Amino acid sequence: MCGIVAYTGKNAASRIILEGLKRLEYRGYDSAGLSIWNNNSLKTIKKTGRVDTLDREVKRTQVDGHLGIGHTRWATHGAVTENNAHPHVSSDGKFAIVHNGVIENYEQIKHFLEEKGYTFHSDTDTEALVNLIAYHYQKEPENNSSNGNRFFNSVRKSLNHVQGTYGIAVICSDHPEDLIGARHGSPLILGLGDNEHILASDVGALAMHAQNVVYLNDSEVVHITRNSFNIATITDESVEAIVQRVDWDIEESELGDYKHFMEKEIFEQPKALENAMRGRFSDDESTAKFGGLNITPQELRQVDRILFCGCGTAWHACLVAEYLIERFARIPVEVEYASEFRYRNAPLDKNTLVFVISQSGETIDTLAALRESKRKGFQTLAINNVVGSTIAREADGGIYQHAGPEIGVASTKAFTSQVMLCAMMALYLGRLRDMSFNDGVKFVKALKEAPKQVETVLKQSSHLQAIAKKYAKYEDFLFLGRQSMFPIALEGALKLKEISYIHAEGYPAAEMKHGPIALISPDCPSLFLAPQEEVFQKTLSNIQEVKARKGPIIAVTSEGSDFPRDLADDLIEIPSAHPAIQPILASIPVQLLSYYIAVERGCDVDKPRNLAKSVTVE
Ligand code: G6P
Repeated sequence: MCGIVAYTGKNAASRIILEGLKRLEYRGYDSAGLSIWNNNSLKTIKKTGRVDTLDREVKRTQVDGHLGIGHTRWATHGAVTENNAHPHVSSDGKFAIVHNGVIENYEQIKHFLEEKGYTFHSDTDTEALVNLIAYHYQKEPENNSSNGNRFFNSVRKSLNHVQGTYGIAVICSDHPEDLIGARHGSPLILGLGDNEHILASDVGALAMHAQNVVYLNDSEVVHITRNSFNIATITDESVEAIVQRVDWDIEESELGDYKHFMEKEIFEQPKALENAMRGRFSDDESTAKFGGLNITPQELRQVDRILFCGCGTAWHACLVAEYLIERFARIPVEVEYASEFRYRNAPLDKNTLVFVISQSGETIDTLAALRESKRKGFQTLAINNVVGSTIAREADGGIYQHAGPEIGVASTKAFTSQVMLCAMMALYLGRLRDMSFNDGVKFVKALKEAPKQVETVLKQSSHLQAIAKKYAKYEDFLFLGRQSMFPIALEGALKLKEISYIHAEGYPAAEMKHGPIALISPDCPSLFLAPQEEVFQKTLSNIQEVKARKGPIIAVTSEGSDFPRDLADDLIEIPSAHPAIQPILASIPVQLLSYYIAVERGCDVDKPRNLAKSVTVE
């Protein structure tokens, strides 16, 4: 959470920083600010609210220069006020900093500095760090000043006293040519332009200015001027930079003719599913193949258990993986919230394979779960959308989703693409074990049909819009489904609550009678996911239980199913499909319903209150 951008070079810094911040707004949008080296002094502008508000203020004040730092905030320490907005300036006025992360020992640092006469004006942890840098700067020999080393060393030395996570960019009024960046736990990427350099929290914020990038690693500090850069660790070991080409299509991250990114991303799902599958089938062997697993079929045969970890929507994809892999590959699967797993010290069997799923590849809890598993010596794999992300770089092997940039805070195309890759993994693992060649052929054929089937569901958008209008006034909702429909029920409830602020709960349909049934009334609609499969009749009984209590019913069933037409108030049909595809098809109506209900209620669909897309704090 929080996005940072910093620039030094031949162009107007404020334009480049503001453009970058707009692309990083998915990381937080409580406040925004920038500091620019302008007419021989540091000028700082901060505003609560969106980057657009900051943009207007920057235009009004005409602050500009060739070096600067910017920030879009998701509040952790301190309320959403201009005072707490970044950049933060040291009490001597020399340094300005932007920070993504949490300085856990900030109170001790603050106390130490207050005793030395430093003053504080915000409630943030970041202000402690910028003053610590000012303190170390005072202690550095002045003869290091001319080439910026004094500045660099003061940042580097300060970071040795910091506990917690940071992606930072710092500027100093004594060094108008220099910019220092550092990371630990929060992402930071250096873009190498022509006579310019740019630092940002993700590639999307710098790709229009730099095609070559360096991904900084934890505990690295970079000293940047417009023509040079030098990386060292915080303990001053030199680091050889690895320059990589960025794989980012800027047009893909434009809104085009859509009203919201969420809407665009819902409709991009057929393409995202194609991209997940492209080049990943072996028809001769009727199986899936993955280039980057870095684990041999022989090693995979030894796996007795798979542990899946993720957060939010990615955790729901893990739950689908559990159903699909256990059913088709007969390997026991466990699913853990990454945030729980990292501290639970769970005993794992030695032949366990750890799989993490993360769209961004930067979620701190998922990253920590991955690191903990690696530390214990387990083989780790990742399903991840953002190329070059920290999780992608640190996992032993993995599968890129190639779903394209997902900008709407509520995940849609990334989810179904993760589910597709889990289905392909179930096929691959199944074919390594007991799945027959013929069953493999049917499985591959079914997966390849999924994008077309998703298209047919998307064609029902006006039907879903009409249903949404009818249900937008309700304040409570239940989402119910059995087996692999249960994770989709959870995902439907999550989508609805995150973007339309309606209280919604997802439950296994049969569990409803153990509690949630108390909520059933004409004021609490239930959405049932009931495609025709093994437990279809059982789900119908659960629907009857709701109907008997006068609860409004929306049902999603498969075309040609035996669903009694008068049982639901509103019915949505999805194509009848292979069980591995059902979770993908069933996801589309719940996404569209949530989207249209949120629009109907006038909610800010792409930037729901209090949320951030990439959660880089614990
Ligand atoms: C946040 C987002 C969710 C997302 C989750 C995990 O909570 O709002 O949409 O599912 O993080 O993100 P990841 O990037 O790890 O998939």
